[in-house]
Amino acid sequence: MTELDSQKQAALAAIAGATSLEALEEQRLAALGKKGWVSLALKTLGQMSPDERSAAAPAIQAARTEIAEAIEAKKAALEAAELEAQLVRETIDLTLPAPAAPRGSVHPVSQVMDELAEIFADLGFAVATGPEIEDDWHNFTALNMDETHPARAMHDTFYFPDRTPEGREILLRTHTSPVQIRSMIAQSAPIRIIAPGRVYRSDSDATHTPMFHQVEGLVVDRDIHLGHLKWTLETFFKAFFEREDITLRLRPSYFPFTEPSVEVDVGYSVEGNRRVVGGHGDAPGHAWMELGGSGMVNPRVLEFAGLDPKEWQGFAFGLGIDRIAMLKYGMNDLRAFFDGDPRWLRHYGFSPFDQPTLSAGVGARA
Ligand code: DAH
Repeated sequence: MTELDSQKQAALAAIAGATSLEALEEQRLAALGKKGWVSLALKTLGQMSPDERSAAAPAIQAARTEIAEAIEAKKAALEAAELEAQLVRETIDLTLPAPAAPRGSVHPVSQVMDELAEIFADLGFAVATGPEIEDDWHNFTALNMDETHPARAMHDTFYFPDRTPEGREILLRTHTSPVQIRSMIAQSAPIRIIAPGRVYRSDSDATHTPMFHQVEGLVVDRDIHLGHLKWTLETFFKAFFEREDITLRLRPSYFPFTEPSVEVDVGYSVEGNRRVVGGHGDAPGHAWMELGGSGMVNPRVLEFAGLDPKEWQGFAFGLGIDRIAMLKYGMNDLRAFFDGDPRWLRHYGFSPFDQPTLSAGVGARA
């Protein structure tokens, strides 16, 4: 065996025995690198006579090719083995619990709207809706506020530049009261609805946002009187705030669409820096807080809606949803409601899957 042959055999054996890509690279450098023995052998050809060269060259060239091919093959084999090992290492264990997916939460306003619907459903109320883009007839005129009525100016209304085909002004509804009109026209009497939703006024400070939420209530039937109104609101607030010691005060007031009109106050006390609803507003350490307006539906409003006031009476109320949500769940900045800050929502939002509130509605409380 020539020296070249034995060098080649040794190199091929070392290549075959390489257990890593690094070890293989060492073998490549030892043979084919600048100072590798194959390269040195090739250099010797330069000093040979032409005859010697043509005798010696083919064996050296062949050795170089053979070694290069052996290295390529070994490299492919090592890479395949590496991949195989990785696949084994990274097997997915399907029995492990999945990582928690980010989950949204129910906004307190939506939560409270659901609670309202649930409580009033127990009292026989259906949920009614109306458009947020209204016309001035439904938002004002039919509620007994004609063009000259000063209450129109008090509403800080957002108007659109155009008008309806009938020539009515188009606006963003300033309260949920137009749903009273639409419901009476659509379904006539008797009627028992609540209408929660967004309303808009050009107003913005710590306690006012240009968009906020109200819930309207309307009952029209025969022989309806103020006692029904008081019992309904009291029963609602007891279920909503989940306590028996709710005291309401109906304070004489004025709204164009009710006669008589009352403002609805509730007794509360302050614990820490939080207002807590409950108790009599005149009791020591207590005060009254206004939660909304209400009254007996003005006969003129019934007439606008096509009902005969000699046959039908009704009561109506309007409450601020954002305010009762803040009271129930202890938030104190209204603007945070509409900032859309995910940290606030994580803190004050509700899980759609486990509802912590509202024990059992109205019927089960007695
Ligand atoms: N619509 C009134 C407002 O936004 C609230 C209101 C007062 C509604 C008396 C009523 C009501 O239904 O009877 O200021």
